[in-house]
Amino acid sequence: MIIYHLSTECYPVAKVGGLADVVGALPKYQNKIKDIEAKVVMPWYNKSFIYDHEFDIVFDGFIHQGGNMLQVQVLKEKSDVLGFELYMVKIPGLLDRDNPYGYQDENFQFIAFQHGVLHWLTAMNIRPDVLHCHDYHTGLVPFMIENCAEFSFLKGVKTVGTIHNGEYQGMMSWEMAKYLPSFDPYKWGLMDWNGLINPLASMIKCANAFTTVSQGYLEELFVSFRGLESLVRDEFSKAYGIINGIDTEVWNPETDPMLDFNFNSENAVEQKRKGKEKLCKEYGLKPELPFFAFIGRFATEKGADLLPDIVWRSIKQSYGGLNIMILGSGNTYIENKLKEYEYTYTNFALDLGYKEHLSHKIYASADFLLMPSRVEPCGLNQMYSMRYGTVPIVRYTGGLRDTVEDISTGGAGINFTYPGVDDVIHAMNRALMLYNQKDVMENLIHANMNFDFAWEKSAEKYIALYNH
Ligand code: ADP
Ligand code: GLC
Repeated sequence: MIIYHLSTECYPVAKVGGLADVVGALPKYQNKIKDIEAKVVMPWYNKSFIYDHEFDIVFDGFIHQGGNMLQVQVLKEKSDVLGFELYMVKIPGLLDRDNPYGYQDENFQFIAFQHGVLHWLTAMNIRPDVLHCHDYHTGLVPFMIENCAEFSFLKGVKTVGTIHNGEYQGMMSWEMAKYLPSFDPYKWGLMDWNGLINPLASMIKCANAFTTVSQGYLEELFVSFRGLESLVRDEFSKAYGIINGIDTEVWNPETDPMLDFNFNSENAVEQKRKGKEKLCKEYGLKPELPFFAFIGRFATEKGADLLPDIVWRSIKQSYGGLNIMILGSGNTYIENKLKEYEYTYTNFALDLGYKEHLSHKIYASADFLLMPSRVEPCGLNQMYSMRYGTVPIVRYTGGLRDTVEDISTGGAGINFTYPGVDDVIHAMNRALMLYNQKDVMENLIHANMNFDFAWEKSAEKYIALYNH
């Protein structure tokens, strides 16, 4: 069975968040299954990966976007170094940028990507068994292969759409329709939601099946999905919740080259302590105190707006009895508020930006990882922290509720229900009580490290779904 994953991100080529981690790992694990050939197709970016690797041009052609003729090149990474064939679609001016997102004309960018991929497959007579589309950026593909004459060769190819984040749907005005490949005008309703072209809604309507990255999140979408609640209920019969795994080859505390002190479950307590000491020293924190961390995008869905209050209240209420470190970036108000607190509180360290190496060090060195998410379709941070022996403190939602069980019911994490500062502080107080019981803490480190979040099981579930 041949599967093409279509995505705007893929680790380590280009990463903004968890989508990259999933697309960089799932195909690799699928390829370990007999008779499965999984590949990845993504846009071309000016990232170091493309300069460090060699590519072959496997296709050179043209598409029309409205009145514009665009050159489309498809380049294949020569050595399959990632454990799967990687194809990158290059369109000068649209798909040759520094980053995946953040451009004014991103509707044109994502339309061009989808059009370019389908044009290439059609022109080269490549008919995969499954096109697996990830998030709204590739959400129009299931519609396009059924309703655009240009791609009639692909009609009937099975499609699966995975919703990594339903907060972003890619809505655009119908004015944009003229930039899509020509489609059967009677079928316009399959792209429409509330008078707009909605690629995520279209994916739900047109894909043979759609998935969410946890069962918990799927259930939440029925009641909260930014206007698509009734659609997801109508299409429930083809909905599946499949939890993400983590790439245990990349995220292995014993071999991780990004760590200063590697460890396994036997020497974890000692080595984690050394890592914590070093990191605390670098950031002016106090290694003898409990260490709480947050890593992620400063967005309201992550509960990042709560961080400034969490910082000052937890430090004040504990009389300076804890450290907090935050790594991330995003909303400027949150960034500025946190910068201000960095000057005010010696127990607080802030690193603004995206830093893969530092994130690994924090997962390994912190005692507790905070995730006050309002919405969390799956969440990978909690799984990375657990693999590195760090106790997750998570809001009981989506994938967090499916992966982290509270210590009160036999789990090895801390849950809280309401995404507000009071609940977070209460959860942190529970953590402080644990921290003071050395044996309990050591047991939690080991229990967390022993959880099995490997991709194998979920990779099999996707294959079962494709077969179905
Ligand atoms: P999302 O994709 O919604 O941001 P996930 O929990 O699925 O959330 O994945 C986030 C991924 O991005 C993890 O691999 C996490 O370690 C990483 N990450 C987030 N922010 C940063 C940062 N500032 N520096 C390094 N890695 C980060
Ligand atoms: C999205 C979600 C996150 C999930 C990731 C990978 O970015 O916000 O919860 O873990 O996709 O599926």
